[in-house]
Amino acid sequence: TLALANELPGAEIIVVSNREPYIHNRARDGEVSLQIPASGLVSALEPVVRACGGTWVAHGSGTADREAVDSHDRVAVPPDDPSYTLRRVWLSDEEQDGYYYGFANEGLWPLCHIAFVRPVFRESDWAMYRAVNEKFADAVAEEARGEDPIILIQDYHFALLPRLLRQRLPRATIITFWHIPWPNAETFGICPHREEIIEGLLGSSIVGFHTQFHCSNFLDAVDRFVESRIVRETSTVYYGGDMTRVRPYPISIAWPPAALRRQKPVPECRAAVRERLGLPSDIRIAVGIERFDYTKGIIDRMQAVDSFLTEHPEWVGRFALVQVAAPTRSKLASYRALQDEALALAEEINSRHGGEGYRPIVLVAEHHEPNEVYELFRAADLCIVSSLHDGMNLVAKEFVAARDDEQGVLVLSAFAGASRELGEAVIVNPYHTHAMGEAILRALDMPADEQRERMILMREQVRARNVYRWAGQMLLDAARLRKRERIARLN
Ligand code: G6P
Repeated sequence: TLALANELPGAEIIVVSNREPYIHNRARDGEVSLQIPASGLVSALEPVVRACGGTWVAHGSGTADREAVDSHDRVAVPPDDPSYTLRRVWLSDEEQDGYYYGFANEGLWPLCHIAFVRPVFRESDWAMYRAVNEKFADAVAEEARGEDPIILIQDYHFALLPRLLRQRLPRATIITFWHIPWPNAETFGICPHREEIIEGLLGSSIVGFHTQFHCSNFLDAVDRFVESRIVRETSTVYYGGDMTRVRPYPISIAWPPAALRRQKPVPECRAAVRERLGLPSDIRIAVGIERFDYTKGIIDRMQAVDSFLTEHPEWVGRFALVQVAAPTRSKLASYRALQDEALALAEEINSRHGGEGYRPIVLVAEHHEPNEVYELFRAADLCIVSSLHDGMNLVAKEFVAARDDEQGVLVLSAFAGASRELGEAVIVNPYHTHAMGEAILRALDMPADEQRERMILMREQVRARNVYRWAGQMLLDAARLRKRERIARLN
């Protein structure tokens, strides 16, 4: 941050995302509680904004504030140690249905993730998506104090926002980061609004993805669907009068993570978790922790446990999968169907292999705060991340960060961006049930020395390529651009 302060003297930073970093909810008894959402985006960006200060513009989603607020709601956060401003944008149910549930989560989400869920594009959702992008453009323009802020736009909820902001603030430095995969041009081409989405994104000074592969896919889509000039060597697109750079910035987590500071030693975590879940003190456990989302491969993971216990019955009674799945987007039929299917499958597997108080699958469908998540990571023998497709996946990096005892095995899907960086994990294909079952056995049998060697390498990777580097690299690129533009204006 010090170096950045020198590079970006007095620059104004504005972040835009759909999900807000702090949700205030009011319970029936009137008590207000604070929730940190289960969002990779929020968990990565929050420490950065805390360090840099500025303004974060997001959709106000809690139940506590809405009643008390006008449309210009600003709060200082974090609540216990304010360091930046949260500007909440309130959306009607109709806006929320069309923009968030509809176009973003039934259209773009399945379009960009290969999970074989068919994307749905409704004209009414698209209209709402456009309207909400306009609404956020107005809110950002209102928050901007100067005419050249640095605006960090987050994710697939805001594909049109960069261009709308370019019109309102021509001199802004706009960096848009797409947190999910970008599919190949053929797949992307099924989107009825592909041209508008690409043109919207090309309002950015920089468009970022997690991997070079997604950058290339994006350039291919630009090439195929809009009239532009692309210089592949420098990964730059010239469109209309605009120039957009397309760059990979692999996202990560804060190091050391804040939640680790409050953790007890590993043996105590192991004992506490087993006791709380009613598991025998010597049972070996795998954990899976994520939002209850069909891209995460939760069903596939449970099937792998089934296969593992069938093939290796000597582990019956000695191993359990603790699966935490935070309900998410439950208004959508595809998400409800997954929840039902997962609950039924857990029951089926438990009745097949369980008995006398033993359940091989402990499914907890509840949101967990970071402290509880870290305790689970520390209590586990292995962590299974079996995403069918994932931009990066920060659960994998958090598991590694949680294990300062240098023990524990990460079983990681080859289809998560994280597998590019964490090659010392046991890499699996989540569609290959039998192989994933064998990977569980391999992880359980892995000698402590080998676990340590692998864990040390992975921890070194996450430490060095932490989230400050992710944001720092983007902001340094922004600083370079601004210098160039200043020089160009002098001539
Ligand atoms: C992914 C997306 C984020 C989103 C998060 C949680 O990580 O990339 O943009 O915030 O999921 O999903 P939700 O719909 O609850 O915000």
